[in-house]
Amino acid sequence: MGGKKQDKWGLDTLCVHTGEGTDTDTKAIRRPIHMANSFELSTDIEELLKVFSWDHLDKFQYTREHSATPRHLEERLAVLEESEDCVFTASGMGAVSAVLFTLLNSGDHIVASELCYTGTQKLFGFHLPRFDINVSLVDASNIDAVKKALRRETKIVYIETPANPLVSICDIKTIAGLAHEVGATLVVDSTWSGLITQPCINLGADVVIHSTTKYLNGHGDALGGAVMGSKKFLADVREYGVVHLGACASPFNAWLTMRGLVTLPLRMKKHSDNAMKVAQFLESHEKIERVRYPGLPSHPQHDLAKTQMTSFSGMLNFSLGAELMENFDFIKRLRLIKHAVSLGHDQSLIYYLPTAFFFEDMVVFDDRQKQKYTEIMGDGVFRFSVGIEDSDDIIEDLAQALDRVPG
Ligand SMILES: Cc1ncc(COP(=O)(O)O)c(C=O)c1O
Repeated sequence: MGGKKQDKWGLDTLCVHTGEGTDTDTKAIRRPIHMANSFELSTDIEELLKVFSWDHLDKFQYTREHSATPRHLEERLAVLEESEDCVFTASGMGAVSAVLFTLLNSGDHIVASELCYTGTQKLFGFHLPRFDINVSLVDASNIDAVKKALRRETKIVYIETPANPLVSICDIKTIAGLAHEVGATLVVDSTWSGLITQPCINLGADVVIHSTTKYLNGHGDALGGAVMGSKKFLADVREYGVVHLGACASPFNAWLTMRGLVTLPLRMKKHSDNAMKVAQFLESHEKIERVRYPGLPSHPQHDLAKTQMTSFSGMLNFSLGAELMENFDFIKRLRLIKHAVSLGHDQSLIYYLPTAFFFEDMVVFDDRQKQKYTEIMGDGVFRFSVGIEDSDDIIEDLAQALDRVPG
């Protein structure tokens, strides 16, 4: 498993067939869910040793270590990212923590993107310093800032692209080169790309993280996370992050995610097509103050996004430039689009992020950073996860809610 995609199969076929198979007991043409938390052990010593070794991931003993249904999903994910292996975790944050606590020791230095998911930012700004780990937070969309922060002893460069919440883009290939010059590991959280639009391993990333809760599951009904990378590194992630720290996933969530992945190429095409139409509609609308979508030429890193993404996924930001309460009145008028956090679901989801609230959450921002992000966000932005409904219906819903925004 893992490694190169099979030459004879295209992406759509891989999403349907990798990790799938006929059930040996019943001949059902889909693998069943194995909800057991323990597996019967062999009394043959040689067989038993295999079960306890990370070289035999098709042998199982206890579900916190690894188990059958998550393993089938890991096979599919590894092939899609073209990585040697994959570890499925309980959540996206489980994947992030497993990677950081596997790689880092007290006294280490890490360069990390200042713009990333708030939970990850809390690890950088609060938890890692508790263990005497030095964190340099930089604007990773600025190569000079990354270069300046690197030290000879830097252990990890950690980026998120497209980044939550402002869809900023980091140059994976160039940052991989810089990280490798000092012997650091490049970790990329590629959640917002939906995986198949952004081949991180091929661009030079050593480790790729996904919150599978989002696009990979795609239906808003299962939490999960994935770490992709070399077999050797993932054996450590499995042992430290999953077995010791307990970020192990439920087989049922693995099964739901496996089922969601079948339609990933279809869904990512629809998310990207819909988001482009919505972004163009919003950009041309008189009541809209600003729009940020990597697929629009007006996005500051549009040219870079074109070089490393095959399409631009379904996340965008926009602002009305209105009073605070008007933003919530706008949401109240929406009939189809749901007011909810999370993203990458089949349904369109929106929430309003006031800039002041964002700054309260991003505890480590100084005055210079606050000024920079105020220029990008104004008083606040709508974070919009464009779903896979008919684009005309999404646009119609936005249009009717915009009609009553005071001009
Ligand atoms: C980029 C990114 N990484 C990680 C996470 C955390 O994922 P989870 O909610 O599955 O723990 C999120 C959640 O929104 C995210 O957007």
